Amino acid sequence: MSTNDSPKSLPVGPSVDLKSVESIPTLPSGLPDPETLARMANEFFTALPLAENSATAIPSAGDPAAFGDPSRLGSVFSGGALSEAQLRTATAVLPANVQAQIPAIPGTLIASPSLPEAWDPARFASSGNFSFLEEARPLFSFVNMAAAPAVPLDTIKIPPETDLRALADELSTAPVPRVPETGLASSAPQIPGAPVSPNPSELSVGYAFLNEIRQLVALPAIESSAASPVSPGDLSAINLSSEPFDVAAIRRDFPILEERINGKPLIWLDNAATTQKPKSVIDRLSHFYAHENSNIHRAAHELAARATDAYEAARERVRRFLNAPSTKEIIFVRGATEGINLLAQSWGRQNVHKGDEIVITWLEHHANIVPWQMLCAETGARLRVAPVDDSGQVLLDEYHKLLGPKTRLVSFAQVSNALGTVTPAREMIELAHRYGAKVLLDGAQAVSHMHVDVQAYDCDFYIFSGHKVFAPTGIGVVFGKYDILENTQPWQGGGNMIQDVTFEKTTYQPPPGRFEAGTGNIADAVGLGAAIDYLSRVGMVNVSRYEHDLLVYATEKLLRIPGLRLIGTAREKAGVLSFVLDGFRTEDIGAALNRQGIAVRAGHHCAQPILRRFGVESTVRPSLALYNTCEDIDALVAAVWNLKQGHTTI
Ligand code: ALA
Repeated sequence: MSTNDSPKSLPVGPSVDLKSVESIPTLPSGLPDPETLARMANEFFTALPLAENSATAIPSAGDPAAFGDPSRLGSVFSGGALSEAQLRTATAVLPANVQAQIPAIPGTLIASPSLPEAWDPARFASSGNFSFLEEARPLFSFVNMAAAPAVPLDTIKIPPETDLRALADELSTAPVPRVPETGLASSAPQIPGAPVSPNPSELSVGYAFLNEIRQLVALPAIESSAASPVSPGDLSAINLSSEPFDVAAIRRDFPILEERINGKPLIWLDNAATTQKPKSVIDRLSHFYAHENSNIHRAAHELAARATDAYEAARERVRRFLNAPSTKEIIFVRGATEGINLLAQSWGRQNVHKGDEIVITWLEHHANIVPWQMLCAETGARLRVAPVDDSGQVLLDEYHKLLGPKTRLVSFAQVSNALGTVTPAREMIELAHRYGAKVLLDGAQAVSHMHVDVQAYDCDFYIFSGHKVFAPTGIGVVFGKYDILENTQPWQGGGNMIQDVTFEKTTYQPPPGRFEAGTGNIADAVGLGAAIDYLSRVGMVNVSRYEHDLLVYATEKLLRIPGLRLIGTAREKAGVLSFVLDGFRTEDIGAALNRQGIAVRAGHHCAQPILRRFGVESTVRPSLALYNTCEDIDALVAAVWNLKQGHTTI
């Protein structure tokens, strides 16, 4: 896949034949005067086949009436001036959004320059922004706003710096949940005795990802949800690809998917445990060891410079991936577990005292329970646990009741590894901050499924493991707000983290160096950078949308199996389908699936409290990633079904 800007994958207007505008002369560089623009734009429209149905043409400056009632347009783009690049794609957004809301009459241009809050058509007409017409022509759709009814389009708010092209791509398909890969629905196994369709009330998978996008542009959610997912405030941090999502191409990027297990093609559905690695990551590691290997920050030679550059470039990639303000806020650690322990042993020991309280939720992985228990045992602080409802969603009211002046820290998973619940992180963080508590958001299970924006969440700390996001094992990340890190004591001492050492006194590096004692996992940090590059090319919104559809598909299929109980049915879910099956031990199901080449985790998933909340000690846990397909799900469902029917033995 490439990151090129090829417009062919972009949504175009309702019915504009773009070939018909080939005769438009190339615009000179720079901004032509308004008359020239108006003339050229009129030629442009005249050339359009639909223009005859729509008499409206670009007005000249001073003829704002031709645009109709500006109040109808509202502040479609708010939040500041758009860049030229954004302008090039701005109109691509309009059709996807607007068409759903207004009966668009194709053939009339609504270009979208940096519209001020109070839209001024005269300024619009004379703004000169039509200079992007020629280049971006294939991206356009056309809406006759003059004929549009007075729809409150000012509900559409798009932050500055938004990658509108990708957003348009997203929105063009967002309103209708799709089944991934056309035709796959019909390729689903026909299971004897299965209901024709599941009871919709059983399908409680929400629209975490799509709602996220909707929140971003303030569009109504498909489904109202008690637990709205984290909503980023700035899409610029997300690397949104303009490429269509091509799962077959993605699968070719992962060599291990060619493996055969027990004579069957590998079906990797153990992504919550670890994800597979694309060739670009594998190659990057190989390149590092072949051409760059050295310790970092320590020598004058060429390889030290190469290794240091590669390591610090990876830190910058992580910064962008999380939309953190600064690389000084990005600490490399071994993984999410080490990240939480680092914070418990550094910030925690410094700031949590006897009588203080730490709030977690029932959903937590052991790694987000045990370090806090240890800290509480050491300090005399108290660990408090927010309960979940029967779907596995945090009970916000109960959570709120736990907060108070004693709360020093709230630490919780953005996505539950055992249930897949997407927690209402933004609300939870906001509530915690009201009481002056700091918040650690555990993103270990979120990063491979959704874009992350630590600034939008306003979390104080964010942690994740590289291996959950297509990078190597042994590398992870702690994000911390700089003013907090700056005032936080180190955990481990040694080389790399010091400024000066005497026998009497040691001074430390500023963050992040002070938290990176010793030689770090340089190569794997570089590998993490490559994994982030890979995801950037695919586009996290593409991943989210695809996986969401796959999750809906899989949920529906699994629920058709009699005696199968999904553990974790929150409206907002990502990537996980934990289940138990009447009459079968989870480990036996795991073993039976393995014989079919299907890898899942069966066990307690390092999250015993939440499984016990649902009355089970273990589940079978298929978990999804961007390379999984409906065929993978079909194979899983068929294997479980055969087991249930006694067609295969344990
Ligand atoms: N935390 C990993 C899992 O959920 C190991 O499987």
